[in-house]
Amino acid sequence: MAQLAIAGGDPVRTRPYPDWPHGDDEDVAAVEEVVRGGRWGGFPEPGPKAAAFEEAFAVYQGARHGILMANGTVTMEVALKALGIGWGDEVIIPALTFAATVYAPIAAGALPVIVDVTPDTWTIDPDLVEAAVTPRTRAIMPVHLGHQMADMDRVMEIARAHGLAVVEDCAHAHGQRWNGTGAGCIGDFGSFSHQSSKIMTAGEGGSLLTNDDRLARLAHSIIDCGRPKDDAEMEYTFGANYRLGELPAALLTVAMRRFPAQQEQRAELGASFEELAAGVPGVRVMPHDPRITRWSFYRYVLAIEPDGFAGRTNGVICDALEAEGVGAWTGYEPMSNYDLFQPSLSRLPVAVEHADRLDPAMMSFPVAEAAGLRESVYIDENVFRSDHRGVEQAVEALAKIQRHADELPAG
Ligand SMILES: Cc1ncc(COP(=O)(O)O)c(C=O)c1O
Repeated sequence: MAQLAIAGGDPVRTRPYPDWPHGDDEDVAAVEEVVRGGRWGGFPEPGPKAAAFEEAFAVYQGARHGILMANGTVTMEVALKALGIGWGDEVIIPALTFAATVYAPIAAGALPVIVDVTPDTWTIDPDLVEAAVTPRTRAIMPVHLGHQMADMDRVMEIARAHGLAVVEDCAHAHGQRWNGTGAGCIGDFGSFSHQSSKIMTAGEGGSLLTNDDRLARLAHSIIDCGRPKDDAEMEYTFGANYRLGELPAALLTVAMRRFPAQQEQRAELGASFEELAAGVPGVRVMPHDPRITRWSFYRYVLAIEPDGFAGRTNGVICDALEAEGVGAWTGYEPMSNYDLFQPSLSRLPVAVEHADRLDPAMMSFPVAEAAGLRESVYIDENVFRSDHRGVEQAVEALAKIQRHADELPAG
């Protein structure tokens, strides 16, 4: 008789893990206040709810300024534009991330230069960043992926040595700290997503954080059709409407109040998960970087070694985990093999010198390819908002799949 749920056996967990997004009467009251108050839109920018959230989030993360906008994709485009980055410039990004990270430089008119990630973190490889710097390079965009952070010590060292800007993609890293400094407060800008799956959400939305007064004013201006901001000296910029409305902003003020308790719970359950999962044969848990001084993560990312799972790869393992009652996802495809990354459609390759480097067929990212196509398994965040039993069951599911891997479908 089959043991694995995917093959007809009983699942490890029958009770669902907690829902996400989590909403209750407090959210309803916050939205109702905006609806009845009549100030729905984001103009004049920022609206009162947006301003309240910007301040609370910036304080929590440790930045001087927060700028709330439509999503965590345009945040990065706005950051690059505020930094004066555009035509002919190069921006270095990692090969394993969501399409938004590579979209942003293209949208700003710059050439994304893609480099591989490290096997220990699956975040941008600083040695490869250094090797990719040219006289045209203007910025590095590290991505803090899953529960990991990019090596910000090395990234900042390289940026300083070459006079480059740094825009951190923190879509997965609300609450994380690196050597005591909040994610998104280390480089020139930090970019956060508030899209539904993210851990501080209003369904949609995005935030930039910065410690630089001038960059903050420019970002506010760019998202508000170029209007000058709070400064008699400031002139118009070239901008568009990327404002967020007051209804999602109100939801974010509630999400912010709830966040510290959720962060603590995720960190505690994440630590027990990591300890238990490290004992499962065929599972590689990445080294825990002690420079991550407050742990707060989107999903926990681990590597399965196909040899330990009868040759099966991450897609089948994720399906099997789902069947056992544990949400899991394979994560991003590498940029060399990514459905959502179609650079030729941007027309950038016909416009920019050296844009032939954007042809996926010419790319080779061995670490990102091994991760995205065979090894990476992202365990859903709701496991880390359940309880110790929930965490044990997630690990039991992994161990059971490993023990009975020969029951898995091919793939
Ligand atoms: C790493 C990364 N960067 C950027 C984004 C873009 O955020 P949004 O969906 O808010 O545009 C996401 C979210 O999907 C992401 O995972």
